[in-house]
Formats: sequence, structure tokens, C-alpha cells
Amino acid sequence: MATTTTPKLTSRIAFILLATGSAVGLGNIWKFPYITGEYGGGAFVLVYLACIALIGVPVMMAEIMLGREGRQSPIHTMRHLAKSQGATNRWQIVGWMGVIAGFLILSFYSVIAGWAFAYIPEAVSGNLNGLDKTTSGALFSELTTSPWTLLFWHSLFMLLTATVVARGVRNGLEKLVRILMPALAGLLILLVGYAMASGKFMQGLDYLFNVNFQAVFYTCQAETCNFTPEPLLAALGHAFFTLSLGMGAIMIYGAYMPQQTSIASATLIIALADTVIALLAGMAIFPLVFANDLTPGAGPGLVFVTLPIAFGNMPGGQFFGSLFFILLLIAAWSSAISLVEPAVAWLTERWQWCRLRATLLVTGLAWVLGIGSVLSFNQWSGAEYQWFGKTFFDLKDYLASNILLPLGGLLIALFTAWSAQRRFSEQGLALTRGFALWWFLIRYLAPLGIALIFLHAIGLV
Ligand code: PHE
Repeated sequence: MATTTTPKLTSRIAFILLATGSAVGLGNIWKFPYITGEYGGGAFVLVYLACIALIGVPVMMAEIMLGREGRQSPIHTMRHLAKSQGATNRWQIVGWMGVIAGFLILSFYSVIAGWAFAYIPEAVSGNLNGLDKTTSGALFSELTTSPWTLLFWHSLFMLLTATVVARGVRNGLEKLVRILMPALAGLLILLVGYAMASGKFMQGLDYLFNVNFQAVFYTCQAETCNFTPEPLLAALGHAFFTLSLGMGAIMIYGAYMPQQTSIASATLIIALADTVIALLAGMAIFPLVFANDLTPGAGPGLVFVTLPIAFGNMPGGQFFGSLFFILLLIAAWSSAISLVEPAVAWLTERWQWCRLRATLLVTGLAWVLGIGSVLSFNQWSGAEYQWFGKTFFDLKDYLASNILLPLGGLLIALFTAWSAQRRFSEQGLALTRGFALWWFLIRYLAPLGIALIFLHAIGLV
């Protein structure tokens, strides 16, 4: 049976740092620019920001609160809370879906983090010096077309993640994040400065912030234009992905949160930090994309082809480039840890496994599944290995980010605002003001928003 094994974090700042470490990662620096480029810019960014503010923030508050009230792994927390609220124990499905989503995400996350890993020796040894569009593209494809190289870095990253999780997440990770976040922000600001000097800064900003709904949400042939809901779902999914929401990662960190800490202010800090880092990354990358004649819609390689050109040509680039990829690796690492934690916590509670054994099982399975992501960039990149027009890598990302995470968020909202008593949240959040607004968002706007976007995506409305 479940026991409350989760020790409480001792300080508010440690919680904020850990949760920010989870939220800020490849989602901000790699995925945000690449999908913004794929979906055509400004209107997509606006919808994504709206999803963060109107759906992500209230759901994050609910998810942290559930974690703090339950104080166990997400599966047990949901079961325990459902019971105490007199609801069906089927609500534990939220925890199970989270575990599955965590596996799927980790199995591609680790491969992309492996790219960041692989770029560290390239940067340190000066191999990025003087890169241009062609040579940078060649360097990237040399990496991704070699399954063995990708497998090597993927394995190393998984090992790194497993090492921390096996020791328990709270042993000093927050100290690392405390240095990481300002350093990452500082380097991104430096890159934005470099992008300003590139000559195409305004074009980059225009691409990111000039809202053209027609271009993003409609596909036109001859005279007729049709609405495409795909970017809408992608923006929603990314809001969940980038905030680490809907799969129990934030819930389990909530379980470690001190009782007196304000959930609302912690949430705002985390969401703000996450958004600022993503926008800085976008502002650094798109001007450079245009200045170097690259295409915004180049796909998952966008950032890895663009930024090395910048480092290869700026003064001190060898140093800054090395530092950047090291920081990106640490950012990915502090996120990956939180992908594993819900499943590991469940195994230790339910079966009394030691952390090492639980960690080996979880990361081992994700590693195996990750081999499919490795092959998606080479051996399995052909059409015969695609489903619904997506590679194995894309498919896992789509399933986890665009379906499982928003669905998890929907269920969290429904449980909190429809199944549990209002008093439960009043006490759990202990807001001094703004409760009515949050209640409106979590009870009506967030679930309706998510449901509508889902219905749009399957063509029902
Ligand atoms: N939020 C992380 C990022 O943006 C990814 C992540 C998703 C981590 C879900 C945990 C849970 O990189």
C-alpha cells in the first residue's frame, strides 16, 4: 500500500528552482523555435502565449496543489484525493497517463539532448569556427545520419539522468539550477545582441510577433481557404510541454513543496521564467535564420544548424558556444529528471523498490524506446517507416505533447473544479485574492478551451 515517502522540501525557493529546472529545457530553446518556424510565426506564438496564460497557469496551480495535498506519486496522489473527496478511484488514470507520457517524451528528449551533448566537443575543439550555412548543415547531418553516434550520446544522456534520479532528485539539483538559469538567460541575451548586429533583426521580430492568422490557420488553394486546426493543437500541446504540465512532473514536485508557500506566486514566477527564455531563444534564432538565408520551417534541426553559425563567427565564439551547449545540456538534464520521477516514485511506494532499481527499469525502458527516435533520423526516415505522415520520433512527440498532456490537464481541471469540493481548493491554494478568477479559469475556461481545441482537431466543430 502507498506510504507517504516524499520528504518535504525545506524552502520555497528550492521548490521554485526545481520546478523551473523542469520547465526550462529543450522545449524552450529547441522545440519552441522549431515549431514556430514550422507553423509560420506570429499567430502561432500569440495562441501559444494565450494558452500559457489562460490554460497553463491555472492548470499548473491546480496540479501543484493536488501534489501538495496528496504528497505521494501522482498515481497514489490521485487515488488518495479521489477517495477523500468521495469520487471514483478511476481518477488515478491521470497518474497512469502521466507515466506513459513521461516514457514517450523521455524517449525522444534524450536523443535531442544527445545532440546538445555532441555539440559540446565540436564547440570546444573549434570545429564550429567559421561555419556557414552549408558547412553547418553538413555538420548537423553528419551527426544525425549516423545511428551509432546518436545512440552513443543518447545512452550517455540517459545514464546522466539515471544517476541523479537514483540518488534522489533533491540532492543539490536546485543549487545547479540556481546558477544555470541566470547563465542561460545571459547567454541568450548575448545571442540576441549578436542577432541585432546580423542585419535581419527586425525581420526576425516581425516573423515572431507579427500576427497573421490567415497565414497560420488557413490553407488556401486558388480562391478557397480552409481553416486548419493543427497549429491550434500544437500551440496548446506546446504550452503543456514547455511548462511540464499534465503528466505529474509538476505534481510530484508539488508533493515536496512546503505547506505555507504561495502556489500562485510560485506558478507565476515559473511560467514567466519559462516564457522569457523561450521568447529570447526565438529572438536570437529567427534573425539569424533570415540573415543566413535558412528556412524557418527547416524542422527539428533548425536551432542546431543556426546557432553554430553564430558561434562560429562571433568574437569569443568558441568559448560562448561551448558554454551554451553545456548549459543546454544541463537544462535538458534538469527537465529529464522530472520526466522519470513520477514513475520512479510510484515504483518505490507501491513495490517498495529501492530507487536504483526503479530508476534502472524506467530509464532502461525509455532508452530502448529511444532507439526508435535515433533511427527516425536515418534508417527509418523513409516513407515506409511513417505513420500518418509522421516518423516514429514525430509520432511519439505528437501523441505525448498534443494528446496525452492536454488530456491530462483537462482531467486535472475537471477533478479539481467539478469532482472535488470548492472548499478543497480554497484551503489548498489559500489565496488571499483572485480565487474567483482562478476558479472561473479552472472550472470553465481551461476545460472548455482544451475540449474545443480537441474537437476542432478531430474535425467535429
Ligand atoms: N518542460 C520541459 C521542456 O520544456 C519538458 C518536459 C515536459 C519536462 C513534461 C517534464 C514534463 O523542455
